[in-house]
Amino acid sequence: MITDPDIERYATEHTSPLPDFMAAIAADTREHLQAPEMLIGELAGRFLEFLTFALRARRVLELGTYSGYSALAMASGMGSGGGEIITCERDPEHAAIARRNIAASPFADMIDVREGAALDLLAGVEGPFDLIFIDADKPSYPAYFEACLPLLADRGLMALDNMLREGDVLHPADEGTRVLAELNDQIAADPRVVQILLPLRDGLVLVHRAG
Ligand SMILES: C[S@@+](CC[C@H](N)C(=O)[O-])C[C@H]1O[C@@H](n2cnc3c(N)ncnc32)[C@H](O)[C@@H]1O
Repeated sequence: MITDPDIERYATEHTSPLPDFMAAIAADTREHLQAPEMLIGELAGRFLEFLTFALRARRVLELGTYSGYSALAMASGMGSGGGEIITCERDPEHAAIARRNIAASPFADMIDVREGAALDLLAGVEGPFDLIFIDADKPSYPAYFEACLPLLADRGLMALDNMLREGDVLHPADEGTRVLAELNDQIAADPRVVQILLPLRDGLVLVHRAG
């Protein structure tokens, strides 16, 4: 975690909690799934909820579903009045758990879990999307960025998680971190987009098309 744990806790305590059923999903994920640190968590989950709320998002694409927590956070900002989230997950066990969690939620009709490798699934996905959240395997992030940019609505946002790699991007020592550090540089120099790298959780990059 890049933020001081006391600050992170204080910020979470002063952030509206996500719906109760989501706390139950987080607890169940921590108890039963490997690598529960992959959950985006309460603070960044609420931030995603703010994004869909502020964008009045009607179509959302997610790469990396895990147990469905972040998809449900985004759905909660869209309200039960409609909208569509397509979320892509390669691991059949994760996809099954996400489908079960989503089916038991108030947003069951809004979220479509597609099983397979995200790059393959993207070939069958049509834009435009108001929000695209990228949170799958890190080595594929550059390919996801390129494949997703044309799918963004004119005033849409792309969000990429883990772009600080717990601070390791400052001195990349492994391949995954090197890929993300290079992608940060590439996005920062890309005239097609405007970006902000927020030190939220593990680093969240937001991108929209340049004017
Ligand atoms: C960090 S977790 C996603 C966490 C989720 N967004 C949340 O916060 O609740 C990453 C997920 O991406 C999945 N994944 C990894 N490689 C993938 C790929 N090539 N295509 C689709 N999903 C992939 C993993 O199985 C894992 O469930």
